[in-house]
Amino acid sequence: MTELLLMIAPSANRVYAGAARALVAAEARVLTGVLCDRPVEVEPADLAGVEYLAVSADGDAGELVDVLSNLSASAALFEREGELLRPVPLRRREIYPSDLVTIPKYSGKTNEQWTRLVLGVTAAATARPQRWTDGSLDVLDPMCGRGTTLNLALSLGYDVTGVEIDRKDHEAYAAFIKTWMRTHRYKHTVQESALRTDGRMRGRRLQIEIAASKESFRAGEVQHVEYLNTDTRDLDGLLRARSVDVVVADAPYGVQHGSQADELARSPLELLDQALPGWVRVLRGGGAVGLSYNRHVAPRDALDQLLTEHGLQVRTGPGYDDLRHRVDASIDRDLIVATKP
Ligand SMILES: C[S@@+](CC[C@H](N)C(=O)[O-])C[C@H]1O[C@@H](n2cnc3c(N)ncnc32)[C@H](O)[C@@H]1O
Repeated sequence: MTELLLMIAPSANRVYAGAARALVAAEARVLTGVLCDRPVEVEPADLAGVEYLAVSADGDAGELVDVLSNLSASAALFEREGELLRPVPLRRREIYPSDLVTIPKYSGKTNEQWTRLVLGVTAAATARPQRWTDGSLDVLDPMCGRGTTLNLALSLGYDVTGVEIDRKDHEAYAAFIKTWMRTHRYKHTVQESALRTDGRMRGRRLQIEIAASKESFRAGEVQHVEYLNTDTRDLDGLLRARSVDVVVADAPYGVQHGSQADELARSPLELLDQALPGWVRVLRGGGAVGLSYNRHVAPRDALDQLLTEHGLQVRTGPGYDDLRHRVDASIDRDLIVATKP
């Protein structure tokens, strides 16, 4: 029997407005449920006035350490030995320095911890959840803003595609990533071009190839980032069918972040209804959609019905039903995950 105690990063309680332990517990239940080959118990525990998650399972720690190290807000891990706690080094998967994800700061940014939770819980719902840990997940964020998902996916070793209608967001992302790659001296290529199909102007395209070492770059072991500055409701002819494992997005919140598109999409339901056929087409069979949304502007039942109408199966049960949290007076945030049969 192994008993591990996970300490949650204090910063997570600012992000999750005091609900960090409950959210990370839900995340841990979903991920251990698919990535561990035995039942795992996750419960809150308080020790000497400090909040932990107690995680126990039969047998040795094994893959549990990898799973717990890579949750959205893991700060430290200990193994319980009688009355004592033995520190266990975290094995966090991070191919590039964390400033790739933490430097960009702007109004309307989706917090990086929540983005990580959304990505992990959505990957866990797919038919191939191991892709979350082996670096082979193909990710699409079809409303990617200034690229929190893109940078996080990159740092986890995945190929990633983003779509965003706001030209300023596209330009800001291009400027940031080019400077960042140069400053850190990563071998890379950048291509920027007009996005045109059948003579029709659709927007702009940014394509990046990057590797964490010169050797990998030379050997062609590169990661791809593609960022399309276009309308996510019209992806026809722009992305290959059945080419991604997960579609993750933080839907417009219906509150003013200064973005024109956000202002227009007061209720994201209509936007989602128009966009979902394109997203579902790009998703592989067995893939999953994970949508972070504001319950004040999109009731869960309505979203559930919409995803079902588009041929997806909404996931329910322990973990998936426990991710709702209040961000502030205007945002009651939740995640809904659905799979493509
Ligand atoms: C909540 S924000 C996402 C923020 C992003 N995760 C980040 O951290 O930068 C929602 C995004 O959806 C984009 N959006 C709204 N309507 C869109 C459309 N029709 N096509 C593409 N993007 C759209 C908005 O411009 C906004 O950037």
